Amino acid sequence: MSELPEGLHALPEGLHAATARPAEAAQDDVLVSAEGVVKYFPIKQGIVFKKEVARVHAVDGVDLRVRRGETLGIVGESGSGKSTLARCITGLHPVTSGRILFEGTDITKLSKSGLKAFRRDVQMIFQDPYGSLNPRRRVGSIIGDPFAIHNIADGADRKKRVQELMELVGLNPEHYNRFPAEFSGGQRQRIGVARALALKPKLIVCDEPVSALDVSIQAQVINLLKDLQDELGLTYIFIAHDLSVVRYVSDRVGVMYLGRIGESAAAEELYERPRHPYSAALLSAASIADPDEAERAERIVLIGDVPSPIDPPSGCRFHPRCPKAQERCVAEEPALVVRDGDAADHLTACHFPVEPGEVLAHEHAGISQVSTEPELPEVEQ
Ligand SMILES: Nc1ncnc2c1ncn2[C@@H]1O[C@H](COP(=O)(O)OP(=O)(O)OP(=O)(O)O)[C@@H](O)[C@H]1O
Ligand code: SF4
Ligand SMILES: [Mg+2]
Repeated sequence: MSELPEGLHALPEGLHAATARPAEAAQDDVLVSAEGVVKYFPIKQGIVFKKEVARVHAVDGVDLRVRRGETLGIVGESGSGKSTLARCITGLHPVTSGRILFEGTDITKLSKSGLKAFRRDVQMIFQDPYGSLNPRRRVGSIIGDPFAIHNIADGADRKKRVQELMELVGLNPEHYNRFPAEFSGGQRQRIGVARALALKPKLIVCDEPVSALDVSIQAQVINLLKDLQDELGLTYIFIAHDLSVVRYVSDRVGVMYLGRIGESAAAEELYERPRHPYSAALLSAASIADPDEAERAERIVLIGDVPSPIDPPSGCRFHPRCPKAQERCVAEEPALVVRDGDAADHLTACHFPVEPGEVLAHEHAGISQVSTEPELPEVEQ
C-alpha cells in the first residue's frame, strides 16, 4: 500500500498499512460494467390524475467497468447520483435505459427469479448502521436474514453460520441474542458487513459505509473491509465523501458530477494528475489539511451551487462553474475518452483538460451564469 500523498488529510488513526492492491485482477476480467446507464425519477403533479411534469436526471449516461478483485471508488458532491447509480448496479432501482452486465449477463433484463439469484452475488452496505438494522430484532436473526430469504440453512445450522460470520467480522458470537442498541456504532456497521457477507457475494457496493462513524472507528471498519477483500477475493464499489479514504481503499476512482462520470483513472494517477477541472478543484480543496480552509477553497474554486438535475446545463454540464469553460463547452458534450498523453485507463470528459502544473483560476467560473449584480451606469471621470 502506498503512503498517503503529501497534503491529503491524515488517515483515520489506526488505519494499518495495507495489503497489496489486487494487481492480480486481470486487466480485462470485468465483473460488472455499466453501459449508458440512465435513471430518471419522474416528478408528478395533479390530485386525481398524476401527470409527469419533470424528471430528475439522477444518473444520465454512465459507463463504467469494475474488474474482479478490485475496488472502484466513486466520489462527487452531494446529489451527483452516486447512491442512485449504486442502487441501479445492485438491481434495487430499475434503470430508465442502458445495460448493466454482471459476469456478462444484462441484469436489467432478468426475470424475478433471475434477479433473486443475482442478489446473492451482489450486496450493499449502507451509511447508516442504525437505520438499516431493525431495533426490535436480535442481531443473530438480522444477520441470518439472507439465509431465510434464500432458504439456505435453518435451525442450528443457521445459528452456526451466523456465529461464524460474527467471528469473521470481529463480533463476539456469544452476542447472538443481543439487540442492535446493545452495540456501538462501529459494531453495528460490523453487523451490516456480516449480513452482507452471508451469501458469499462477489460484489459489495459500499455506500458511505464509514461516514456516520467516529474517525477512529472508521479506520477499524475500513481495515476490516480491506482484510475481507483479500481473504474472500471480494470486489468493491466504494462510495464516500472523504477523498483520502477513497484514495486509500480504491484501485481506480470515478468522479461523478450531475449524473455523469467526469473522469476515471487509477487512484494514484487521478489524485496526482487530475485532468478534469472538477476533479482538480475537488482535490485541490482536499489537499488542504484544515477542513475549514479546505471547504473555503472548494467554495472558491467551485463557484456557485450544483445546477438542478431536473434541467441540467447543455453541453458539458460543469460549464456554469468551470474556470476553463469556453463556448464549445456550452454547445458540445465532451466524451469520456483517453486524452492526449494519458494512460489507457485514464478517461476524461473535458474539451480542455487541465495540463500538468496548470493552476485553476479562482476568481472566474463558468461562462453562462447570469449576473445577479445590477448593472451600474457608466460614470464620466
Ligand atoms: N427516489 C427518488 N425520487 C426522486 N429523486 C431522487 C430519488 N432518489 C434520488 N433522487 C434525486 O436524484 C439525485 C441524485 O441523488 P443521489 O442520492 O443518487 O445522490 P448522491 O450522490 O448519492 O448524494 P449524497 O452524496 O448526498 O448521498 C438527487 O437530485 C436526488 O434528489
Ligand atoms: S468541457 Fe469545458 S466546461 Fe467542461 S470541464 Fe472541460 S473546460 Fe470545463
Ligand atoms: Mg448518496
